[in-house]
Amino acid sequence: MDSMRDMIPINQPSIGKEEIEAVVEVLKSGVLSEKSGQGPRVMQFEKEFAKFVGARHAIAVCSGTAALHSALLASGIQPGDEVVVPSFTFSATAGAIVLAGGKPSFADIDADTYCITAESIEAALTRGTKAIMPVHMYGLCADMDSITELARNRGIVVIEDAAQAHGAEYNERRVGSIGDATCFSFYPGKNMTTGEGGMITTNDDDLAEQARMIRTHGEERPYWVSRQGHNYHMPEISAAIGAAQLKKLPGFLQERRKNAQYLTEKLGTLGKLVMPKEPAGRKHAWYLFTPRLRGANAGKRNKLVEKLRSRNIAASVYYESPVHMLPFYRDLQSTRRSPMPETERACRQVFSLPVHPELKQTELQFIIDSVKRAI
Ligand SMILES: Cc1ncc(COP(=O)(O)O)c(C=O)c1O
Repeated sequence: MDSMRDMIPINQPSIGKEEIEAVVEVLKSGVLSEKSGQGPRVMQFEKEFAKFVGARHAIAVCSGTAALHSALLASGIQPGDEVVVPSFTFSATAGAIVLAGGKPSFADIDADTYCITAESIEAALTRGTKAIMPVHMYGLCADMDSITELARNRGIVVIEDAAQAHGAEYNERRVGSIGDATCFSFYPGKNMTTGEGGMITTNDDDLAEQARMIRTHGEERPYWVSRQGHNYHMPEISAAIGAAQLKKLPGFLQERRKNAQYLTEKLGTLGKLVMPKEPAGRKHAWYLFTPRLRGANAGKRNKLVEKLRSRNIAASVYYESPVHMLPFYRDLQSTRRSPMPETERACRQVFSLPVHPELKQTELQFIIDSVKRAI
């Protein structure tokens, strides 16, 4: 342990001289933002991000939550509309629906992928459903063919929450080019960061135009407001960091994959753990490495996490509570939910281990030895 840091973090941004130099350059330029939210660095970053995911448009905003909110509004979600969403997610996915005036309708997840499926979505659909928001949990893309087919047949939009899935692939397409709109987060510790930040990608020209207006107070042109909007600008400093990070993203993803493979190889033989899966046709982005403690209740799983934390490994639980059981959503009269046995089981049994590119080989080995000792 001597050569290791105090705590091995669950995730950590990889910042180098490229990001530092890019920030200094912005500061020296004197252009820190632009009133339309489209300064030169933002425009450059958007162009490169759109190219990376294979989408026609990318709209940079100030957070992943702002991306989700903007995408819902840009898709025409109206107060009272229902939006199907997993309950097994970070609360911001459902929070964005409430912000837009919509009603979350919670769907259960698949036990192997932790994502919602066409079948579970079907159980949550009503005549009031206007959108589906699949979350690509831990970096694994949901089964988008069946979800987009279901949505097309019903005439409803698909807005993907890819906050954890930069660089994930589905049938050789990068996440960001599949649904009507896809939303990314650049919070520190995500697969790439801008400090705080978010991005909406889409192939829909109208949706892109609306999202750009929403980002800037609903302005059609300077000071001419023709719809509801916000100040969701991404600062130029953030965009400069993002452009530098995007160049490194393929390397980060390779490191994450290598670490995930090593963890799977060494921990996969322990009968008590169920390893994360990567179904055929999908490429995991390995934002988190999340095994399941087979047959465990929450107490038993929490004890394991505590043991790892006492050895300075920041193992964490994403997520301990389904969103539908959080006080705000429990009390929200308008939320709907179908039975959610897999969501509730996952909340009792999963735990995440560090898999990020800043891990040293000795730390990876220490994590493996510690898990073996702890279970
Ligand atoms: C699944 C999911 N959705 C939404 C968000 C919100 O992103 P942000 O923190 O950038 O607002 C996050 C990240 O924190 C997330 O993990």
